[in-house]
Amino acid sequence: MIMPNEKTQKKTIPFIQAKKEKKEKIVAITAYDFPVAKIVDQCGIDLILVGDSLGMVVLGYENTIPVTMEDMIHHTRPVVFASKSALVVGDMPYFSFHLSNEESVYNASRFLKEAGASAVKIEGASKKRLKLVEALVEAEIPVMGHVGLTPQSIYHFGQFKVKGKEIEEAENIVKDALSLEKAGVFSVILECIPMEVARIITEKLKIPTIGIGAGPYCDGQILVFHDLVGFSNGYLPKFVRKYVDIHEVISRAVKGYIDDVKKGKFPDSNYSYHSKSGKLDELIKNEDQKRGKKKK
Ligand code: KIV
Repeated sequence: MIMPNEKTQKKTIPFIQAKKEKKEKIVAITAYDFPVAKIVDQCGIDLILVGDSLGMVVLGYENTIPVTMEDMIHHTRPVVFASKSALVVGDMPYFSFHLSNEESVYNASRFLKEAGASAVKIEGASKKRLKLVEALVEAEIPVMGHVGLTPQSIYHFGQFKVKGKEIEEAENIVKDALSLEKAGVFSVILECIPMEVARIITEKLKIPTIGIGAGPYCDGQILVFHDLVGFSNGYLPKFVRKYVDIHEVISRAVKGYIDDVKKGKFPDSNYSYHSKSGKLDELIKNEDQKRGKKKK
């Protein structure tokens, strides 16, 4: 039986892959900072992706295109610090793997060397991308693939919408997933594709498929943390189940705080420091007397 690393209890790639054989679901989530990574890790998440979705959910960009390598390293490091058990995967941002293989392998290595991640994820499966996967694996950098709706191609696609509804597109996605497996990825994200297509891919591949908007047949699931806790109160895609409305919870807390401060209800004596009895009595008495004199 493949167990997490005995010394560190960290979940390893063979551990994640073995779940497919055992028909145990892989549960993944995104995280971009220490406190959230700590919570999800302690909850027992298998895999944390430091996704470039951070551009949209944390940095406020309209899409993921502006996200830089520096942003990704900066956010991956605290997630690794916080993760005692989950496997951490760093997402390679747009244009960090689009020029030479040499530069791309160097950028990928930074996720392992500088941020401490165990693997990287790259979007797409063009011929050039497949060669890059081979080069990364050759450099001992485990890679996760990503097909279907690949958000870094937003300007190509025009909008974020389901891929593979038509037969030709569906066949291409199946082909892409198979090619990525052949090139050496250890698992593949299937984003926003019909569940029937995800099922075909999952049955054809030996490596695990991890779905987001790809239905129940994938070997695992991933959601963006901010979506499943309801951090933003904006649009949510159909595939997101919101488990809590944290936007509402936080708003209620902050409004309560504003109200209490304005009405002088916070801080009261319970939330204040007190002098040691007797020690400051003299000072207080003098100040009271001075105030009394001034009033006269
Ligand atoms: O960037 C991201 O969060 C992702 C997931 C949606 C898979 O790529």
